Amino acid sequence: LATHSDRDTILYEICRLLSSTVPVYDWVGFYIADPEVPRELYLGPYVGEATDHTRIPFGKGICGQVAESLETFVVEDVHAQDNYLSCNIHVKSEIVVPILKNGEFVAQLDIDSNTLAAMDAHDQRVLEAICAKLSPLF
Ligand code: SME
Repeated sequence: LATHSDRDTILYEICRLLSSTVPVYDWVGFYIADPEVPRELYLGPYVGEATDHTRIPFGKGICGQVAESLETFVVEDVHAQDNYLSCNIHVKSEIVVPILKNGEFVAQLDIDSNTLAAMDAHDQRVLEAICAKLSPLF
């Protein structure tokens, strides 16, 4: 069985791989459902600028909405969203992909871009395939 630190190493390597291979992926990270605090996410491994949003309640922001909807959220223009948490003024678009284990939400992959509408259905397909493979880590 993988330990938490094995898991975090793998998640961090995925962040590095994605951010280094896709130039418009400016911030790549994982938020994880806190097993100790119901309906709250904590920031896991990430690559990019530090963010103030190290904990996010379910329902808040794009991340919190995905924790409830269990569906990928592709945001072409973050400034057009009412329920959005800004981590950094340069961010223009975002994608959040849920990770489910036995149908339950366990974590999510969050990618921010400083380019408008940087992520499309192709990104969504690839990232959903990656996230599906990560489920056994949780
Ligand atoms: N923008 C996210 C918050 C996380 S930061 O992008 C890293 C949101 O609205 O939930």
